[in-house]
Amino acid sequence: MSNEKTVEKPWTGRFTEPTDAFVEAFGASVGFDQRMYRQDIQGSIAHAKMLAHVGVLTAAERDAIVTGLTQIQGEIERGEFQWSIALEDVHMNIEKRLTDRIGIAGKKLHTGRSRNDQVATDVRLYLRDEIDVIAKELKRLQANILDHAEREADTIMPGFTHLQTAQPITFGHHLLAWNEMLQRDSERLADCRKRVNWMPLGSAALAGTTYPIDREFTARELGFDGVCRNSLDGVSDRDFAIEFMSWASILLMHLSRFSEELILWASAQFRFVEISDAFCTGSSIMPQKKNPDVPELVRGKSGRVFGALISMLTIMKGQPLAYNKDNQEDKEPLFDTIDTVKGCLRVYADMLGYAAQPDGAKKYHIVPRKEVMREAALRGFSTATDLADYLVRNGVAFRDAHEIVGKSVAYGVKTGKDLSEMTLAELQQFSDAIKDDVFNYLTLEGSVAARNHIGGTAPERVREAVLSARQRL
Ligand code: ARG
Repeated sequence: MSNEKTVEKPWTGRFTEPTDAFVEAFGASVGFDQRMYRQDIQGSIAHAKMLAHVGVLTAAERDAIVTGLTQIQGEIERGEFQWSIALEDVHMNIEKRLTDRIGIAGKKLHTGRSRNDQVATDVRLYLRDEIDVIAKELKRLQANILDHAEREADTIMPGFTHLQTAQPITFGHHLLAWNEMLQRDSERLADCRKRVNWMPLGSAALAGTTYPIDREFTARELGFDGVCRNSLDGVSDRDFAIEFMSWASILLMHLSRFSEELILWASAQFRFVEISDAFCTGSSIMPQKKNPDVPELVRGKSGRVFGALISMLTIMKGQPLAYNKDNQEDKEPLFDTIDTVKGCLRVYADMLGYAAQPDGAKKYHIVPRKEVMREAALRGFSTATDLADYLVRNGVAFRDAHEIVGKSVAYGVKTGKDLSEMTLAELQQFSDAIKDDVFNYLTLEGSVAARNHIGGTAPERVREAVLSARQRL
């Protein structure tokens, strides 16, 4: 990044003193907004084409601008471009370079436009591009979760409430709950994109412009769904970014919940899943350790994404219309959120996937220990509700059934037996409504199979739900 005093700023006409050196560095955004160079050039090319279309530029001027900007994009991508702090931001750096290359036509590019509508347009274009990348990655994660869910449709584990064993469920059913959250995130993102995809360009500094611009033309060139209907709002609105960051916060909240479960399940106390070495690290002092770093980091990163949302809301809350320099502070939290979301989704989609082995086999990065899950489901009297439901079907009132089962559980705690391990005679001590068919309902398989309705945990329903979820994807 150069900082030479000789660079001439495009707005110094009314100034008699140079900018204070620290103020120049303090106010520059080029260090972080240069990542929008492609969208800035794309927007400028569309603007130049529109200006030629309405007769403000000649065809020759338009062509010189388009060629010049295209060459500048090449310079940037080859790492040859000299960014300058004195030129503040990505917009003025590129415009200045254009003028150096093509002369007077370059100086005409900014006709009928301001950096205020230019930056608002660039940020929207940039975010739109990133949303499309993020939406794909989210779908990849969902597809991998659905594959696991299908394979684990019959795998039994304890379901929890209050983190206490509640009722047996299938692991596939649990994974489908994750997918439901992500499916809503997917739909919310598509909806957010609609409001991102409006074009501020043409709002100029705040009030519009005196040139006979054709905003619909520019919007079509740039693939926007429409133009911002009010110029003051157009330059100052950052709701679209706030909405994306709210979306990102909900997504990270979900990923953080999944992470919490994976961390618990991978612990020596639960031992429900094995996470492959590729997604864990060791300890520099304790040789036995294998830490679930990936889920832990993702859980931690939810903090910065929530924080960025709060930053953005706070940046906006005190601003009078229209543009204020405060808005320059929108970029770092937004960009950080985009980067964080992309990283978290990528690592999660990979972790829920597999490594293809030389013999073609799939080595999954997350493998359930089915026997351990099953044991845990047997240990917590998870079929107690099934026994109560059985009694109700045999004519006992639910409250009485609850009491009878409570006594049976107390007996089980004392004798160290699960309900399914008691003899018929032992069970009949508590109610003569219990017959020898009771064991069909007290087994884990019987329990999950009985919850056979839409949204229930029965393996058959899980398989069905996987198919319909794939269709929605
Ligand atoms: N770098 C500025 C930003 O990010 C561009 C707009 C500057 N506009 C202005 N009137 N100073 O917001």
